[in-house]
Amino acid sequence: MAQSAKLSIDVTQIASPVSPTLYGLMTEEINHSYDGGLYAELIQNRTFHSEWNGEPPWDLVRHGNAIVSRSIDKSTGPSTALSHSMKLSVTAASPGNEAGLTNPGYWGYGLRPNTTYLGSFYAHAENSEIGPITISMVNNATGTVITQAQITVQPGPWQRYEYKLQTGAITPSIANHLEFTVAHPGTLWLQLVSLMQPTFQNRPNGNRIDLMERMAAMHPKFLRLPGGNYLEGITLKDWYDWKKTIGPVVNRPGHHSPWGYWSTDGLGLLEFLEWCEDLHVEPILAVYAGYALNGTHVATGPDLEPYVQAALDEVEYVAGDTSTKWGAERARNGHPAPFPLHYIEIGNEDYLDKSGSYTARYAQFAEALHKRYPQYKLIATDGNSEYETKAHPDVSDEHYYKSPNDMMDLVHHYDKASRNGPKIFVGEWATRSGSPTPNFGDALGDAAFMTGLERNSDLIIMAAYAPLLVNVSPGGMQWPTDLIGFDAGTTYVSPSYWAQSLFASHLGTATASSSVSGENPRFFYSATVQPDEHVLHLKLVNASTADQPLTLQLSGISGAHTANVTSLHAATFEATNSIIDPDAIHPVESSITVAGSTWNHTVPALSIEVIDLPF
Ligand code: AHR
Repeated sequence: MAQSAKLSIDVTQIASPVSPTLYGLMTEEINHSYDGGLYAELIQNRTFHSEWNGEPPWDLVRHGNAIVSRSIDKSTGPSTALSHSMKLSVTAASPGNEAGLTNPGYWGYGLRPNTTYLGSFYAHAENSEIGPITISMVNNATGTVITQAQITVQPGPWQRYEYKLQTGAITPSIANHLEFTVAHPGTLWLQLVSLMQPTFQNRPNGNRIDLMERMAAMHPKFLRLPGGNYLEGITLKDWYDWKKTIGPVVNRPGHHSPWGYWSTDGLGLLEFLEWCEDLHVEPILAVYAGYALNGTHVATGPDLEPYVQAALDEVEYVAGDTSTKWGAERARNGHPAPFPLHYIEIGNEDYLDKSGSYTARYAQFAEALHKRYPQYKLIATDGNSEYETKAHPDVSDEHYYKSPNDMMDLVHHYDKASRNGPKIFVGEWATRSGSPTPNFGDALGDAAFMTGLERNSDLIIMAAYAPLLVNVSPGGMQWPTDLIGFDAGTTYVSPSYWAQSLFASHLGTATASSSVSGENPRFFYSATVQPDEHVLHLKLVNASTADQPLTLQLSGISGAHTANVTSLHAATFEATNSIIDPDAIHPVESSITVAGSTWNHTVPALSIEVIDLPF
């Protein structure tokens, strides 16, 4: 047992304010966060985007002695954005010998009982000889058809068709695939073949319910969007061109995501904003600033001007009223009310631009944004530079990805930081060692770091863990250590998720005056108060393998009180949750009586405790 440490806290003395917006979310298309994740679409590659190996994962269905071939027809499609289509040429088919296409979904289809799945597709046929299209959801192991629908395609120009798949009293499963088949010879062209699962708050073109519920339970205050590297792209032509992500989905061409797969942009700018609305959080809008991940940049001056204009238009789309050009466009897209906005971020991780062009690029954006929208605060992204921030923004975005021990060594980083420069947004951070999701050592590193965020929250106004989501199916992940894991059917949360949620839901409005002595080097704490509710939120983190006895001297708290204790504990740094063991590590609630102003309490080894003590 380690020696007893002394922790003194005076709840009547405020050391510094805590930012009410301290904890939020950061998001981007990575690890199939949207396509194959949050976005409710179930069909993978619904727009038949071609790769070197065809249009994966689509394949042909050839039941019995059916004969069918497929090809991409670049001469016809339902829109300018989707000007190509899948041509299906069926030369032999009959009832029992059906031909068509099959799609395995994003590593399966997570079917639930008594659920309606809404489907649609665009089709074109020269004549009616091919007969109706049958859409079947089929169990992979048994071949049993779980649910089925039939649609007759009218000969003539491209048309949109809708279908429904309804499940009965089935056992939930993901091991299913989808088939689109015909039972007669003929030729058929298909595009934008969609099947949506039920969405959070029934939003059309919306988000998967279970993942939204996981995020809501974190009590976030903002959503930083759309990236991350997703804002920038690998080359200059891959930038997040937001205007191509709005309006009817048939008018969205999609684009290359920097994480190695095609993005449909079904979850586009308006859907990001509606996601914010549904979680009751504000967007932190990152606008593209002319830098690509391959190290190239757009020259300042006239070359950069179109991107500056795109940013001005984007802000108008988000927050302009309907008398403005882009506010009216947003209304046409289904959302007349402007969205709340306070912060605009210029670029992402521009400290990586070794040419040093960011200062001038930032200045060109900042001048135009300030002139048109003086009400918004601007965030610069050169915060991790070795040299002092030159952009003079309102807020500087700093990113940290560290091992558990390195993260613990960073806990006091901001204690002596200058308060004369910009405020800090820790726009991406995570303790990283677990894969695909953080282990308990990571959660300890995260909790330790958050004690520093809270203590310095007069300076650090916002912080967001990254990345947020990972599809844990084989092939789904590009970046190990992500907060929330999921597959086609279920979600699970990591120990770090619990640490984040516990800290965010016991934030407090101010840091109480405090000091500690005699503690082990891996002991960390935060003491914040909520004066109007007369409660002390005490966060105690013991990352040591030995218990940490404490003698707490509490000023401003007298008499006996019952404190609520929420504990997170595991036996090792490596212990973790997973899709097959989702609850191995979870918060445990208890209560404890604190009598008087001196309180002896032991924080067990490898533990995070969040204690609410009334006063
Ligand atoms: O969070 C993963 C990546 O890390 C982000 O896309 C990028 O901003 C950072 O380098």
